[in-house]
Amino acid sequence: MAKAKLTPVHFFSHGSTMMLGEESESAAYWKRCGDEALANGIKGVVIMGAHWDCLNDEIQVATNPNPSKSPVAYVHPSKYVDYKLNPDLPTANRCISMLRDAGFNCNGNPTFDWIHDTYLVLIRMFPSACPPTTIISMNARFDPHFHLKMGSTLRPLRLENYLLIGSGGAVHNLYRNKWTSMLRYRDSFAQEIPPDREMLEFRQAVQDVMEKNSGPGLRRGLCRLMKHPQFRDAHATDDHFMSALFVAGAAGDWDDEEQGKGRLKAETWELVNMCNSQYTIGEWVSA
Ligand SMILES: [Fe+2]
Repeated sequence: MAKAKLTPVHFFSHGSTMMLGEESESAAYWKRCGDEALANGIKGVVIMGAHWDCLNDEIQVATNPNPSKSPVAYVHPSKYVDYKLNPDLPTANRCISMLRDAGFNCNGNPTFDWIHDTYLVLIRMFPSACPPTTIISMNARFDPHFHLKMGSTLRPLRLENYLLIGSGGAVHNLYRNKWTSMLRYRDSFAQEIPPDREMLEFRQAVQDVMEKNSGPGLRRGLCRLMKHPQFRDAHATDDHFMSALFVAGAAGDWDDEEQGKGRLKAETWELVNMCNSQYTIGEWVSA
């Protein structure tokens, strides 16, 4: 029997706001992913970011028909103010039902405004027009298994040609970043000194887990990374790692074992210690 066609899943490290303002290898890769998605006729994007989390056991899905954009520091407004957001309310409501059916306390949020963790990536991927997009929140308890289950619950959307994306960070600790060159010269890429050892270690651990595992092994590996000795150095807070778990849930089924190894496709270091690794799991099955 022919294997069902599943869309690839991306884990993108969005980095600092300069990733919108300046060119980088990662930004070029995001554009390539957008082009491929459009060439394959995606129905829409379902994305979990890193800047929106809900309290207690709740999660939310953005249902604001006319969302504003929260401002992006250090980036000229011309790079984003006119970009038209395209909230996909039918898919948002469908995601709410799917997540509720799986036992989540999930509600729509009709007043949520979009934040750069998601629309920065969308502008880079789809500069000419935003495809219909659904934004899913995280839960502020930052339980890896919980976010993994969110991904596995929405995984069937991959069979319907939706593109699932997690936007977070491989190594993302704002307290360990060295901000001087950005604040003084608007240059986040300078890398005047090498990254700290802990950041290099954790960056490598993420690559090892992503590229050497697939299916449930990928899920286990990414969950286990939160117990890595350098996890807390690489992530002062858990928020930028949660969407990696969402991605593992969406791309870590037994049926993903064969083609489901992650691949590091681009990488951009910023502010000495922030590593923006871009991973893709699975690939487009060409028509
Ligand atoms: Fe962020």
